[in-house]
Amino acid sequence: MITDERMTSFLHSIYREDDEMIRTIEQEAREEEVPIVRAETKELLKVLILNQRPKRILEVGTAIGFSAIYMSQYLPKDGLIDTIEKYEPRIQVAKRNFERTGTAERIRLLEGDATEILKELNDSYDMIFMDAAKGQYIHFLPDVLRLLATGGMLISDNVMQDGDVLESRYAVEKRNRTIHTRMRDYIYTLTHHDQLETVVLPLGDGVALSTKLSGTEESDGIRQDDGSDL
Ligand SMILES: C[S@@+](CC[C@H](N)C(=O)[O-])C[C@H]1O[C@@H](n2cnc3c(N)ncnc32)[C@H](O)[C@@H]1O
Repeated sequence: MITDERMTSFLHSIYREDDEMIRTIEQEAREEEVPIVRAETKELLKVLILNQRPKRILEVGTAIGFSAIYMSQYLPKDGLIDTIEKYEPRIQVAKRNFERTGTAERIRLLEGDATEILKELNDSYDMIFMDAAKGQYIHFLPDVLRLLATGGMLISDNVMQDGDVLESRYAVEKRNRTIHTRMRDYIYTLTHHDQLETVVLPLGDGVALSTKLSGTEESDGIRQDDGSDL
C-alpha cells in the first residue's frame, strides 16, 4: 500500500454507497479474487467522467467488467465504452455482467490481446483508462496516444506497483525488475512527452492523469532538461 492505512480507511468511510448491482459485482470480483479498480480510483473516475463528459471511452483491461459498468453510470446519454480483455474466462463473466446490468448496448467488449486490438482501432476516444498488464503500458502507449483525442484524458492505474516503483531496481524482487524498469520508463515518458501534460497522484496504487495537448501549447523548453538547478 502506498498510502497511509488510516487515510485509506477514512476515505473509504466517507464515500457514498454504490447501488446494489455495482456492490454485487464488486463483491463477486473480490470473492473470485479478480483484480478490480480500487475504491479511491473508482471515485476519481466518477468525477473525471462527470467533469469531462466523454462521449467515447476506451478501457484497456476489462476483467469482469466492473469498472466499465461503473463508468457507464456516469457517461453522457449518448456515451459509449469500448473495453479490451484477452482472458477467456473473464470475457464470459464480463459479457454476463453487461447483460444483467443492462449495459451491453453501451459497452462493447473487444476480445483479444490489446497489443493487436489497439493497432486495429481507428476511432478517436475522449478518455482512455489503462488498466491491464502493467509491464505492457509502455508498449501500448504509441497506439493509445494515436487513439486519444486532442484534449482527451489518459488515466493510467497502478503506476506505483504497490510502492515498488519508488524503490531502487535492486531493492525490488528479481522477478519484478523488468516491470519496475518498464513502469519507470512509462511514468518518465508520460511526464516528458511533448504531446502530454501529466500529473501522478499518490492515490490508490498510484494514478497518472495525462491530457493530450493540441500542439499549440508547445512547451517553451520546460520539458527539456537544461541542466539548471530550478
Ligand atoms: C486489473 S484487471 C482490470 C480490472 C478492471 N478494469 C476493473 O477495474 O474492473 C486487468 C485485466 O487486464 C487483462 N489484460 C492484461 N493484459 C492484457 C492484454 N495485453 N490484452 C487484453 N487484456 C489484458 C487481464 O486479463 C485482466 O483481466
